[in-house]
Amino acid sequence: MDSMFSLVGRVSVVSGAAQGLGRATALALAQQGSELVLVDRNLSGAEATATQIQSLGRQTLVAGTDVSNPESIANLFQQVDSRFGRVDFLGNIAGDGHLSKPEELTITDLNRVLQNLVVGRFAMCQEAGRRMLAQGRGSIMNIGSLASSTALGRGHIAYSMAMGAVIQMTRELSTEWSYRGVRVNCVTPAQVMNPSLEARMANDSTLEGRFLRGIPSGRLGQPNDIMGLAVLLASDASQWITGAIIPMDGGNMAMNAGGTPGHEQRSVQSFRTEYK
Ligand SMILES: NC(=O)c1ccc[n+]([C@@H]2O[C@H](COP(=O)([O-])OP(=O)(O)OC[C@H]3O[C@@H](n4cnc5c(N)ncnc54)[C@H](O)[C@@H]3O)[C@@H](O)[C@H]2O)c1
Repeated sequence: MDSMFSLVGRVSVVSGAAQGLGRATALALAQQGSELVLVDRNLSGAEATATQIQSLGRQTLVAGTDVSNPESIANLFQQVDSRFGRVDFLGNIAGDGHLSKPEELTITDLNRVLQNLVVGRFAMCQEAGRRMLAQGRGSIMNIGSLASSTALGRGHIAYSMAMGAVIQMTRELSTEWSYRGVRVNCVTPAQVMNPSLEARMANDSTLEGRFLRGIPSGRLGQPNDIMGLAVLLASDASQWITGAIIPMDGGNMAMNAGGTPGHEQRSVQSFRTEYK
């Protein structure tokens, strides 16, 4: 194991650990030696991830915490204190959106999304951050989205408002905490396969093609795409990386929406003339 990326002796808290980006993050950290706190309201799913991690020889604590509830989050971190006595890394990943036309979005639904993605993510940062500040060291990876800085349409109004707040939260926390050893970064994925995305693509046969037109690397993301980034951000290899908004998007954010990705140009007959 390369010592620059070693997580031996570290304790990582990962939310959304039952599936998708959370599970891939937890497995990557465990492979580098970290002990894991696996948080997901899908308790049996988190337990299945724990079984995989225990087979790597790592210790686990599983919690069915709802990360939209700050009281439950406070309780979760008390359990972490009793079991491990420290927190070195937080993968702040779980959280739902809600799709609605802006003119039809109810304030109740808007509040629910903000509670889940903004207040919940902040409460996780605050509980983990207090412990990391006391230790003088720690790293937080918040998950934002393309919708943190660009608009998606298709009913994403509440989700985008929340994800925009997640990157500003990241910048503020980094600015306040970095000199005390606590780094805070935000990863902003483009479309990564998960059950809700699969369902939306099944409902609209044009959607996958439209997503791909925005992804120069020519494929949608897979949960495992976060593994290297999570290890980097958790390890000492990223000691001077903080306050960063890091796209994990196959090149989406780099390309203007009116641009044409290379994999489409291959099939555009007129490209040569257009380019001249
Ligand atoms: N997949 C994408 O395309 C994509 C893109 C950008 C951002 N994101 C964000 O990344 C995060 C994870 O996405 P994913 O694709 O892994 O999703 P996913 O649906 O595959 O997994 C999410 C996990 O989080 C858990 N969860 C959701 N809300 C919770 C809550 N309130 N308390 C506890 N657990 C909760 C679910 O049970 C599930 O196990 C989400 O916040 C999502 O908005 C995803």
